[in-house]
Amino acid sequence: MNNSDYEQRLSKRVPASDVRAGSAVKDIILVAGARPNFIKLAPLYKELCRRPEKLCPIVLHTGQHYDQKMSDVFFQELELPEPDIFLGAGSGTHAEQTARIMVEMELIFMRRKPDMVVVFGDVNSTLAASITAAKMGIPLAHVEAGLRAFDRSMPEEINRLVTDTLADLLLTPSKDANRNLEREGVPREKIVMVGNIVIDTLAGQLSRADKSDILERLQIESGAFALMTMHRPGNVDDRDTVDILLDIVEGIAAEHTIVFPIHPRTHKNFTGMGGRAGALAAGTMNNVIITEPLGYLDFLKLQKESAVILTDSGGVQEESTYLGIPCLTLRPNTERPVTITHGSNHLIGLDAAIAIEHARRYLQKRTHGAGIPPLWDGKTAVRIADAIEKFLFEGDYKREMDALHMAAREEALQALRTS
Ligand code: UD1
Ligand code: UDP
Repeated sequence: MNNSDYEQRLSKRVPASDVRAGSAVKDIILVAGARPNFIKLAPLYKELCRRPEKLCPIVLHTGQHYDQKMSDVFFQELELPEPDIFLGAGSGTHAEQTARIMVEMELIFMRRKPDMVVVFGDVNSTLAASITAAKMGIPLAHVEAGLRAFDRSMPEEINRLVTDTLADLLLTPSKDANRNLEREGVPREKIVMVGNIVIDTLAGQLSRADKSDILERLQIESGAFALMTMHRPGNVDDRDTVDILLDIVEGIAAEHTIVFPIHPRTHKNFTGMGGRAGALAAGTMNNVIITEPLGYLDFLKLQKESAVILTDSGGVQEESTYLGIPCLTLRPNTERPVTITHGSNHLIGLDAAIAIEHARRYLQKRTHGAGIPPLWDGKTAVRIADAIEKFLFEGDYKREMDALHMAAREEALQALRTS
């Protein structure tokens, strides 16, 4: 592509009139692409909007998730405006998707010249934005920094490691995250423990979720069902693993109702596999209610009213902890250990007998409660906005290091002059 093509694409994406020069207000691009990102972005966007004399949030949606039920519904329910910038990246292999986002994003960053880029969580959109911002010298903040599953077979773990290596401001949800980062040699000055932003959204939406009529629509009763979500490649891409999952579903459904809002990856894979998996995806398995991915409010209501949750989702492990609903995590590890040490989460792995027995007990005798980790209090967005302001207006670690390096170079030059 020659330069004029490039310039043309650039002005198409971001009109020159949108570019602000020399303003004292700092432009912050908030990057979101996938379902859990939208849920994390909402409270921070709203908090930044409350500081118009200093900060101006710009919402960039990469288009990694694009179905109405995976994207638009969250903007509507969480009362977010339309994204300022939409990249339309769509699905693809990891390299395709990440590269497509990076190419488009570079154009945006060149034109918009943001003062900071904020990324959330561990999805490919997060990785793409982090690399692009870091290479362009744009300060990068990572919300949900420091989580580690210590399992590089998960694409998210690679995304977390790269993002945290590149970030200038690492905003952590829990103490274990601080420990992980410090062990990896991240300077303490870059790390701020802010708590869990997922809980800001949850706490803020609980009363609205309570009004959801999802129980009536599905014809189920409070406390009389298990809720299930499943979408990790490690669980739903491989036929043998899916067979174990199906054993778990059948084992529980022999006596109890399961509600399973099905993620598009899972739906596509199960349908392709046919047999029991296909029957589950088609909603023809006894006692299993399959739904499309649900909106946030309906899903939150289901979590709150369920007897037990079976999941491989990161966000659901956290939300069930806050709600005190027993959660069975069907994975060999978790990057969210506080949900076990403080909360209601149990790490089950993919053991059908153990999963079924736990689920049965919780379904037979409803239990509720456990603890809530420190700073999971609904005020994380305020702490993040404070940390961003401090970083942008009061100097930061990188600037201190730059000053140190400059002084050292000056000293070396001085030494030559005097020798
Ligand atoms: C992604 C994240 C994962 C996160 C999950 C949240 C990465 C590597 N993975 O996984 O960490 O937990 O989102 O839900 O970023 N699809 C649709 N419609 C959509 C989106 C996806 O049909 O709106 C289908 C496509 O066939 C696509 C597949 O789902 O190929 C996977 O989507 P993708 O965004 O690549 O990964 P997820 O499995 O959704
Ligand atoms: N969620 C939702 N509808 C659903 C399933 C999940 O709104 O049908 C919400 C859930 O409450 C949580 C988030 O989506 O806030 C978790 O997203 P997901 O499991 O897709 O991703 P992960 O957290 O594993 O990255």
